Amino acid sequence: MEKYRKWFREAGLGMFIHWGVYAVPGRGEWAMQQEQIPLEKYDTHIPEFTAENYDPDDWARLAVNAGMRYMVLTAKHHDGFCLFDTATTPRNAVRQGPRRDLVGDYVKACRRHGLKVGLYFSWPDWSHPGANLGPDRSPESWTEYINFTHAQVRELCSNYGKIDLLWYDKAPNMNGEYLMTPERLRASELNAMVRQLQPEILLNDRSLLPEDFYTAEQNIKAPDDPHRLWESCLTMNKHWGYFPADNQYKPISGIIHELTGVAAFRGNMLLNVGPAPDGSLRQPERERLEALGKWMTVNGEAIRNVAPCPLSGATYGCAAARDNDTYLYVHWWHRDRIAIPNCDLKFSSGTVLGTDHEVRIRHDGKHLVLWDLPQNPPAPFCPVIKLRNLPNS
Ligand code: GLC
Repeated sequence: MEKYRKWFREAGLGMFIHWGVYAVPGRGEWAMQQEQIPLEKYDTHIPEFTAENYDPDDWARLAVNAGMRYMVLTAKHHDGFCLFDTATTPRNAVRQGPRRDLVGDYVKACRRHGLKVGLYFSWPDWSHPGANLGPDRSPESWTEYINFTHAQVRELCSNYGKIDLLWYDKAPNMNGEYLMTPERLRASELNAMVRQLQPEILLNDRSLLPEDFYTAEQNIKAPDDPHRLWESCLTMNKHWGYFPADNQYKPISGIIHELTGVAAFRGNMLLNVGPAPDGSLRQPERERLEALGKWMTVNGEAIRNVAPCPLSGATYGCAAARDNDTYLYVHWWHRDRIAIPNCDLKFSSGTVLGTDHEVRIRHDGKHLVLWDLPQNPPAPFCPVIKLRNLPNS
């Protein structure tokens, strides 16, 4: 695999950050379109988007401690407000609101903490008349809109040093119309420019061209092509952007089950947080990141750079493998044994990660039995059993 893709393949876990003016009304990042808020009215929220407690080092520390290897920040979401310095529009964080280049500070923090730098960029832009009029009603303003989009991507790829990943997004316009095609976006031209400016960048599949990696959203279904790089982006509650009324947070065990389900099919999980207008993260998000970090400290080796393995997970959860090691992610720990049917692999020994417990192994034809396990789960959620394959099995 090309070197510039390898880090992504091995990362396992990253942090998605949805942050922008939409944090002020606090009803998710789609409020402008869903509630049909006129632009002038929406923009009255800009002064309250203060970023006064914005500390990207705090985000980066939380990410690193959670076992994450990269972050992706919404440089511009569908509302069109830019978190970066841009000559294309005064609707940006340097000219209004925070009066600070939020993207610039974020990029520096990523680098300080050894995280790969990802930027999310929405080419749908509800603030641009061309996007809302469409190419048939107004070809001139459509051309203006596409040129404006290309110019913004050029700025992002020129002004912040090395960007490791660009995460495009797609969406309908203010009228709910999906008007975009790769030709209308001039996506090949756009991506060629990006690669010229950032030769090692990874691009997702939402410029409507396949590019480097596939994105699953709010599900953990792998792409059909088992060799394609992919990532599943998932929220902790039901929204991406700040929505304080939404307290429907997943339990940490649920997040870890999703993580193991993605890893078992060679994917990365991009786990979302939605900071408040001041840049702070809510306590339920911090708690989950901290709990994830504790789990990753013990079990991270079972998540990174693993590949699918043919072991059935029906009786305990799911599994993955690397070289001679097989990892069983035990979602359901049911007393002192696990029986696995239809097993063609042979194992010599096994341990429970984070303990010194030796697992006893019996092969009974195609039936594999792990026994003499601790009666009670050796960890509060999802313990991992590491089995060593017998050579040539
Ligand atoms: C969906 C949402 C969008 C969000 C994205 C993240 O497309 O509509 O707001 O940014 O998911 O994948």
